[in-house]
Amino acid sequence: MVLSIAVSKGRLLDSFIEILEKAKYPCDNLKKETRKLVIESKEAGLRFILAKPADVPTYVEYGAADLGVVGKDTLMEADKNVAELVDLGYGRCQLVVAIPKALGITNVTDLDFNSRVASKYPRITLEFFNKKGIQVEIIPLNGSIELGPIIGLSEAIVDITETGRTLVENGLVVIDTIMESTSRLIANQVSLKTKRQEVFDLVKAIEGVI
Ligand code: PRP
Repeated sequence: MVLSIAVSKGRLLDSFIEILEKAKYPCDNLKKETRKLVIESKEAGLRFILAKPADVPTYVEYGAADLGVVGKDTLMEADKNVAELVDLGYGRCQLVVAIPKALGITNVTDLDFNSRVASKYPRITLEFFNKKGIQVEIIPLNGSIELGPIIGLSEAIVDITETGRTLVENGLVVIDTIMESTSRLIANQVSLKTKRQEVFDLVKAIEGVI
């Protein structure tokens, strides 16, 4: 039986392709430059579905894809009923709270009451501040979150940082770290039973190379 895998384009896909090929699941078609959104690898018994990162858990929860590859940060934010199978180890980054350096505070507890916090992760952000008993107003954005404090939309941001370069170049500093994230292989709960052998074989092969 063919396994379908929801993945998203970009440099993280290259890391996944590398793992698959080392695990003896050839995916030449996936490396080709194409606008196709569904790509088959007959030799590997895999069908790749090219989705936006935030949509990967949705495809998997509904069974439109048996498996998915997604960052732990995006997975936590999506809060879907899927099984997390493997920590793939790449795409390591931190989800942090950052503020303009000029604000001069070092702790989230020093943020003003009802401070505005811009983020692509409104659910995780709300949970983080609720747990700390800090009242904030969350402003959901879809990208370029660092713009928030620069143009006066928000006092703080919650966003991922990898090298830290984007924060530095936009005059922002980290005042707290919410979580660390890496890419994960996830599965649909039903596919785990109906395609048990195929999923198990792939997981074993991937675990053997990471
Ligand atoms: C991510 C993130 C930061 C940047 C961090 O943005 O939102 O902006 O990467 O990386 P760095 O610490 O290595 O500088 P992405 O490129 O995914 O685009 P986005 O801002 O539209 O989300």
